[in-house]
Amino acid sequence: MSILIKNGRIVTASSSFIADIYTEREKIVAIGKDLQYDADKIIDATGKLVFPGGIDPHVHLDMPFMGTYSSDNYETGTRAALHGGTTMVIDFILQTQGDTLHNALKEWQGRSMGKAVGDYSYHMAVTDFNDEVAKEVVQMIEEEGISSFKTFMAYKGALMIDDGQMVQLMKVVKEHGGIVTVHATNGDMIDALIAKNRKEGNLSPLYHYLSQPEVTESEASARFADMLNYTGCPGYIVHMTCEGALNAVRQATRRNQKVFVETCTQYLMLDASLYEKDFEGAKWVMSPPLRKEKDRNALWSGINQGLVQVVGTDHCPFKWEQKLMGKDDFSKIPNGHPAIEHRMEFLYSEGVRKGKISLEKFVEVSSTNAAKIFGMYPRKGTLAIGSDADIVVFNPDKKHTISVKTHHMNVDYSAYEGWEVTGKTETVLLRGKIAIENEECKLKAGDGRFIPRGKASKII
Ligand code: URP
Ligand code: ZN
Ligand code: ZN
Repeated sequence: MSILIKNGRIVTASSSFIADIYTEREKIVAIGKDLQYDADKIIDATGKLVFPGGIDPHVHLDMPFMGTYSSDNYETGTRAALHGGTTMVIDFILQTQGDTLHNALKEWQGRSMGKAVGDYSYHMAVTDFNDEVAKEVVQMIEEEGISSFKTFMAYKGALMIDDGQMVQLMKVVKEHGGIVTVHATNGDMIDALIAKNRKEGNLSPLYHYLSQPEVTESEASARFADMLNYTGCPGYIVHMTCEGALNAVRQATRRNQKVFVETCTQYLMLDASLYEKDFEGAKWVMSPPLRKEKDRNALWSGINQGLVQVVGTDHCPFKWEQKLMGKDDFSKIPNGHPAIEHRMEFLYSEGVRKGKISLEKFVEVSSTNAAKIFGMYPRKGTLAIGSDADIVVFNPDKKHTISVKTHHMNVDYSAYEGWEVTGKTETVLLRGKIAIENEECKLKAGDGRFIPRGKASKII
């Protein structure tokens, strides 16, 4: 199939201009003014923005966690992502402690193959590092197209590795051209605060927030940056929420070190006052928790200062019935919230329309930088000749309201019910095929493809 998109404002991370784009089969073939091609389909994008399909590098689909599974699977999750203009996601494989990375890979392939509607890749979470796992890490990079390794400095007993394992993993990953990513919070401090609050009978969702103060994140972020500096390994901190953690990264730049940072739309938009709503606060129980206004301001500034390179979602939805598992004890509420569908529209509406970031920065942090950092640029993350034709045609002026009644995620509430958004994803192409048109998904389970990734970038 060939498609000609005419007269849109084409936006990349470096520029924006009015032109046409022509795609054939899976790729972008031409970009220019008044292109003359005999296309199978013509899309009039006059007055619209045309930008690269979003890449959300932080999602949890069908993930076993805290005694249940996240409620979006590969089909519902990637379909919802497409509705919002995200054409590719990177999910997390979790190694079971005591088991191999290859077994975990097989398990996740079983969950995703033939089911994804949009494109996807995996980060491999190393939860138990030893000499055998070190060999598997190399095989993941060289043979499986998985070059990013997730670590947890929290969730002791299930996912956390200690600092000795972290440094050993960094050495192997560095040598073979990968990147280590981290959930950077001090697990021991958090566990002690949770135990204290439970003992004192403080059991509501508010105490989830109070058990993870800012210092737990700033301390771990600084420690992770120091370990990266010591080993020379490239690193990436996921879901950063606060000023203190950002300052730890700022401090690392003073020794000419680059630590990549991801924040998520919820940390740019929401704050911890939501935990004061009694049990309804469970909708926003996630780790790390929402913070304060000063942290939101620091993160928006961090994006413009180039300290924060990526905005993801940490999409990890649970239905209300699942959240109720923690009705009498905040520590049993499954951590995570639904957001995969709205990331691009939120970032455009709250960021670009409110004058906080430029259009080019919007593309950079929603797509291009993730492609560069995680080894898939320029196949993904830009509009260029030869790139995959993952393209969003976006109406910048259309207003709409977020609601559980209209979203496509498999979750029975919205964490943003009634939120007014300016800007709507209208048409989405995935590798040159129409994926979304007139609010309908035209692709089916199995149309999404695993994207093997190359070596990770050290500098972008
Ligand atoms: O609360 C969260 N973030 N749930 C998903 C797991 C993680 O830590 O990213
Ligand atoms: Zn995390
Ligand atoms: Zn996560």
